Amino acid sequence: MTADDQKKAAAAAALEFVQAGNKVGLGTGSTANHFITALAEKARGGFDVECVATSRASFQLASGLGLRMTTLEKQSHLDVTVDGTDEFDGNFQLIKGGGGALLVEKIVATSSRYMVVIADQSKKVDALGKFPLAVEVVPFGVNATAWKIDRALRICDLKGKLQLRLMDGKPFVTDSGNAIIDITIGHIPEPRRLDNLLKSIPGVVDHGLFIDICGIVLMGTDDGVKTFRKG
Ligand code: A5P
Repeated sequence: MTADDQKKAAAAAALEFVQAGNKVGLGTGSTANHFITALAEKARGGFDVECVATSRASFQLASGLGLRMTTLEKQSHLDVTVDGTDEFDGNFQLIKGGGGALLVEKIVATSSRYMVVIADQSKKVDALGKFPLAVEVVPFGVNATAWKIDRALRICDLKGKLQLRLMDGKPFVTDSGNAIIDITIGHIPEPRRLDNLLKSIPGVVDHGLFIDICGIVLMGTDDGVKTFRKG
């Protein structure tokens, strides 16, 4: 089974967590795309849901496939969000943001009664941090903000390589008009502490650590989809 087959199987299994009439948050990335496609197919058969997308790309895919879309300007709460991840650990903590959609993904996930993460088995880690941590920053004062991020890492006894994310040689711009600084750390022993320190920096809009947000992980494996539930 390829990683993509595992993603597809996890995405199909996530349909079980969506009820007719639900308001559903749609994640971003290749795994979330499989879920959007599967949900749209089910909706075409008369299964009615209303969806909020976490990125322009997901909005285009979902609306193009005929899913009924709404927004968090119209709704204050969603029933469930289904999204992919870059890493998850045994405590259901995540690193997301590889695709640059972390801010809206976090707003949507935390507006949902619960978040279901769908993943192939390569995303399961013993400790977060091998995948670079994306930090979304206001473009103004980006060097000053980077210095403060580096100081936060040192307070946590971490060493990280900071890199402004580029696309086609220019600074990457998120859907919200911000920049991203990727930090290669290797190992984050205290994700909650780093979460708090990063959030306290003026100029940091958000970051890719999802702490205590996800309650269910569906992981595709060669032996079927494994379900992990918190608590
Ligand atoms: C988007 O910003 C990310 O958080 C994605 O959810 C994450 O990178 C997973 O992407 P894949 O499903 O493509 O691996």
